[in-house]
Amino acid sequence: VHDPVVDDPVRLRVRCVRGLEWVAADEVRSSLPRAGDLVMANREVSFSLPRLDPALLALRTVDDVFLVVGQVDDVGSTKAAPQALSGRLAGLGWGLARHRIEQLRALPARPGFDVVASLEGRRGFNRFDVEHAVGAATAPLVGGTYLARTSTGRPTGEPDLTVRVFVRGETALAAVRLGRRPLHRRDYKQNTGKGTLHPPLAAALCRLAAPSAGQTLADPFCGDGTIAIEAALAAPGLRVVASDLDADRLASTRRNAELCGVQIDLHRADAGRPGWARAGGPAGVDLVVTNPPWNVSVDGTGSLRESLDPFWGRVVHGLTAGGRLCAITDGSLDAPTALRRRGFQLALATQTRIAGRVSHVLLAAPPGSAGARLPPGPARWRRAALAQGLVTEDGF
Ligand SMILES: C[S@@+](CC[C@H](N)C(=O)[O-])C[C@H]1O[C@@H](n2cnc3c(N)ncnc32)[C@H](O)[C@@H]1O
Repeated sequence: VHDPVVDDPVRLRVRCVRGLEWVAADEVRSSLPRAGDLVMANREVSFSLPRLDPALLALRTVDDVFLVVGQVDDVGSTKAAPQALSGRLAGLGWGLARHRIEQLRALPARPGFDVVASLEGRRGFNRFDVEHAVGAATAPLVGGTYLARTSTGRPTGEPDLTVRVFVRGETALAAVRLGRRPLHRRDYKQNTGKGTLHPPLAAALCRLAAPSAGQTLADPFCGDGTIAIEAALAAPGLRVVASDLDADRLASTRRNAELCGVQIDLHRADAGRPGWARAGGPAGVDLVVTNPPWNVSVDGTGSLRESLDPFWGRVVHGLTAGGRLCAITDGSLDAPTALRRRGFQLALATQTRIAGRVSHVLLAAPPGSAGARLPPGPARWRRAALAQGLVTEDGF
């Protein structure tokens, strides 16, 4: 008997940070070898699978993952459009989508759900008009209770399901979030301070640095430990050393790592002085993966009050001969120029955009080494993103 829940292929869309869509594509492809028709676009990657797979909920470099319910065209832009749109979206397979999600996680008999719409282009209606119309129209089909959100907020408590409507040009794509919460929210991140890194970006840096068991990875500006924890999760058997000058941030890293159940060696150290790099032994550390202060939300302190230069100098001496530096730095710091001036060889100097600010993402080898290369998987997807014009050599 044909059962569409298990027999028919599904279409997925992941949302990710701008500029690193190719890193997300690489993770999708390697975590889900059966993914087909993979297409990268601005801030998203779409693909199909024979059926939903629990590995989708374990993706770490993406912000969120959605099951596509369907699409309608000729949306229109008049005030009446949301009502007409919701009527047409109601014709899609909402019940089937719910059953599919239930293959991955349990839902209450009558799930509470919200609707989040994003609109591109000028219209005679706003996102709330779409959300209310779609929420009312789909509630009986989803078999749930629509939790209306207004410009002043939304009901308390987390919804069991989130319906997502992407309106672009004349097309509206309807989807349902696979997880209960967006994937970028990590349960371990309970203790956070200023400038803490978006976890999918930390995971992307770790993917580019490609740590392996037996190596030592250091984050000398660990803050709340996002990079250190993502690295420990990505490569069991990796030795992870984290340091910071701020004792409160170190305490946050300790607590977050405990919540996550990973082992991290913690030290209080000034990243512009030699101490932190000694953790790797006399030869140095294999990988430095880090997110230095930007003098925007977090100031450089200690030896780095004036500039990051003392830190770049320390990295030269702190890395093993074949070592690599992978960093995300605020655009205003112009780290690519600072590193090239010091003789680093850059395998990657590109940009990403997060919270409206442009940052550099760098992969570099210290002067005199054989040079750094992107790992083969990300390199392949980067070439594809360059070829389609989604990114350029140094950004987007
Ligand atoms: C952008 S935050 C890092 C955030 C971190 N990636 C996270 O996810 O929480 C920069 C960190 O650098 C630390 N810092 C500033 N000056 C420092 C120095 N001289 N040595 C070591 N850490 C320093 C700050 O205390 C802050 O925690």
